[in-house]
Amino acid sequence: MGIVAPRGTFDIMPDDAGLWQFVEGLVRETFEKCGYREIRTPMFEHTELFERGVGSTTDIVEKEMYTFKDRGGRLITLRPEGTAPAVRAFVEHGLASRALPAKLYYMGPMFRYERPQAGRYRQFHQFGMEVMGAAGPEADAEVIAVPLEIFRAMGIQDVVVNLNSIGCPSCKPAYRQRLQEAYAPVLGRLCPSCKSRYDRNPLRLLDCKSEECRAALPEPPTIFGQLCPECSAHFDGLRRLLDKLGVGYVINPRLVRGLDYYTKTTFEYNVGGIGSQDAIGGGGRYDGLVEECGGPPTPGVGVACGMERCVLAAQANAADQEYQAGMDVFIVSLGEAARERAFELAHGMRREGLAVDFDMIGRGLKAQMRYADKMRARFVAILGDDELATGEATVKDMSTGEQTRIAQAELAACVRRQ
Ligand code: HAM
Repeated sequence: MGIVAPRGTFDIMPDDAGLWQFVEGLVRETFEKCGYREIRTPMFEHTELFERGVGSTTDIVEKEMYTFKDRGGRLITLRPEGTAPAVRAFVEHGLASRALPAKLYYMGPMFRYERPQAGRYRQFHQFGMEVMGAAGPEADAEVIAVPLEIFRAMGIQDVVVNLNSIGCPSCKPAYRQRLQEAYAPVLGRLCPSCKSRYDRNPLRLLDCKSEECRAALPEPPTIFGQLCPECSAHFDGLRRLLDKLGVGYVINPRLVRGLDYYTKTTFEYNVGGIGSQDAIGGGGRYDGLVEECGGPPTPGVGVACGMERCVLAAQANAADQEYQAGMDVFIVSLGEAARERAFELAHGMRREGLAVDFDMIGRGLKAQMRYADKMRARFVAILGDDELATGEATVKDMSTGEQTRIAQAELAACVRRQ
């Protein structure tokens, strides 16, 4: 074989592009309806942004970033996620002094050097939303609830919302210490990466999936007895709002998430039927990130969802749904003069807003009819010598098989009527 796509990447071929376009349209429409406006940031940023924003002890920064020196000697990283770039742009463009909250959304490719498997890629796509400048639990509830509407419209069923709070700088340190104390006696039995996380980021011990670590301390202490009054009230407020909206959730004290910027709320959406990579999205609050990136103290909360995983989940739920765009008319032509006329007619009808195609390679009648069928044409208009002579076309309704002969000038109006 010749050159193939790099490991962990894939092509979205025309057969699947319809579904992707459907999802992209749905995301845009839903976010815009909720008052979010699109932000497009570069595919690459200064490496320092992610080191500072995402956190130097995270898997992303430690081992998954595509980092390189450009020809000017700058250290550059392909974006592994969209939150730090959105915050960077918020600060750089002074959005903090404009109308708050800033409600932003984005959609596009992200890059992480992970071990590829079903649902996990090195170039993947996210859609996400970020709210900056709103401290109350309404913002958290909104970023949890809105993607659920998108999942519902995609036909993804049985999404489980896992919810947790990881506290703030005033209550988290005491909990970290409590965790370290609890894990200290079993430290020797933990996996190598947990051993190294014990000092630097003990909360991550909670979400290690390895059997040995789970067995070493099956019931680690939870944060709930230790949240400060503010974090506690925030979490209660969020739960109350979710209950009001009818959003079900499971409290999962192990959900700490793999990015360092979170404070208070963390959450993740999980679904069945798509394999081990079952998190179709996740997010949380990041009240310190804007300041960390050089802006004024500004609370923030957001979410991002994996498009590939959403598409997999939608396909698992409704396997044979058709998303491919069809065609209004395919013009079948027999002979060179008819082909030229077909082109002319197609061009005119396209200008009138119809989806029209014609044969450009001189195939026979049968092959053209097969092609029209494949393109899911609603009508076929046939032009032979006879039709050319009379200025007419034989029109076949592909759903009923019915054939009529009409003037070529009437073609567009006729198709429109049906
Ligand atoms: P994240 O959990 O790292 O969060 O990624 C969000 C979602 O992106 C995941 O739940 C998953 O569906 C998808 N995803 C992540 N990595 C891959 C991969 N290698 N292949 C396929 N899909 C993947 C964030 O990125 C945060 N920025 C979310 C956020 C926004 N927090 C606050 N605001």
